[in-house]
Amino acid sequence: MAKLTFYGHATFGLETDDGTRLVIDPFFGDNPACDVSVDDVAADFILLTHGHFDHVADAIPLSERTGATIIASYEIAAYMEEKGRPASPQHIGGGVEYPFGHVKMTPALHGGKLDLPGGEKFTTMAGGFLITLVGGQRFYHAGDTSLMTDMQLLKGLVDVAVLPIGDRFTMGPADAVRAIDFIEPKVVIPCHYDTWPPIEQDAAAFAAAVGDRAQVQVMMPNALFEF
Ligand code: NI
Ligand code: MN
Repeated sequence: MAKLTFYGHATFGLETDDGTRLVIDPFFGDNPACDVSVDDVAADFILLTHGHFDHVADAIPLSERTGATIIASYEIAAYMEEKGRPASPQHIGGGVEYPFGHVKMTPALHGGKLDLPGGEKFTTMAGGFLITLVGGQRFYHAGDTSLMTDMQLLKGLVDVAVLPIGDRFTMGPADAVRAIDFIEPKVVIPCHYDTWPPIEQDAAAFAAAVGDRAQVQVMMPNALFEF
């Protein structure tokens, strides 16, 4: 079983069957939805969907302490290498085979600024990740994105989908339901909501709107989901 831990906002830990620890979009210290210190998190790989602060804030300290390799778009990976961090550059549409499984960067419609000191010249595009673990589980973290017709290309490829529902900066609940119609995952985990007042949402109402399209797993921060 893969073990998925939600740290609030868009931050997830994913431990594979063989014990490899992935951390997606590490945002701990300034994350109001998270009471876990980045100092207490284990990581072998850190995956960054895009460069906004609420997705990369703790990437460097986490990599410095654990030695974890940072998987990100070419431009963010170049920034991380400049900071002395081990990085594996990828880009949208491209997949890489890692010891724990296959990671493909998926498109996202969203901003591409890198919100770290000196990051201005590292312009990039936002993305998401389609992760196929060695154990066979297929996991999709959409990143920050609007609804896109491109999501139809993920149909049949995803068991567990993490989708933003916060509205304002990403899809809201209604568009997330349409995304589920496109992707047809077995399980949906909403994220990127309730972190701050501007993205407050009613997760129970979202689950009701999804209905029998998929199993909605509303995760409280620090909750664990196995699949
Ligand atoms: Ni963003
Ligand atoms: Mn965000």
